[in-house]
Amino acid sequence: MLISSKPIHGIAVLLVLCYGTSTQAAPDAQQRQLSASCSACHGTNGHSLGGTPVLAGLSREHFIKQMQDFKSGARPATVMNKHARAYSDDEIEKLADFFSAQTRRHEDAPK
Ligand code: HEC
Repeated sequence: MLISSKPIHGIAVLLVLCYGTSTQAAPDAQQRQLSASCSACHGTNGHSLGGTPVLAGLSREHFIKQMQDFKSGARPATVMNKHARAYSDDEIEKLADFFSAQTRRHEDAPK
């Protein structure tokens, strides 16, 4: 009731939860937009709580290599081949900067 009668407040709280508690430098608008499409599977800011790999705190080099290998097909995958192909090299680097800057948490699912 409280949430449904005040949808704007709910959204504001969500935004604060997503970005307000980060101690990292604020991501730019493009990084936010790009990484938002990963959150459905990889969790907010890459903190996956399910069976999907945690992206938060992956090394930049590992992240870029995985994305390039998904793109080329060198790494077989269920869904990431299709996702990775949608991103340019420049966008992959922006995503790598964003996710490598997130701090891995002990409650994150194992890699
Ligand atoms: C539909 C769910 C889904 C979405 C959306 C998604 N991923 Fe994934 N991701 C997966 C799954 C599942 C895997 C494991 C490999 C596979 O089976 O595709 C994975 C694996 C990865 C890995 C490899 C991690 C490692 O350490 O090996 C990276 C990097 C990655 N995803 C990045 C991204 C990025 C960046 C986005 C957004 C642009 C994204 N994913 C969006 C489901 C998803």
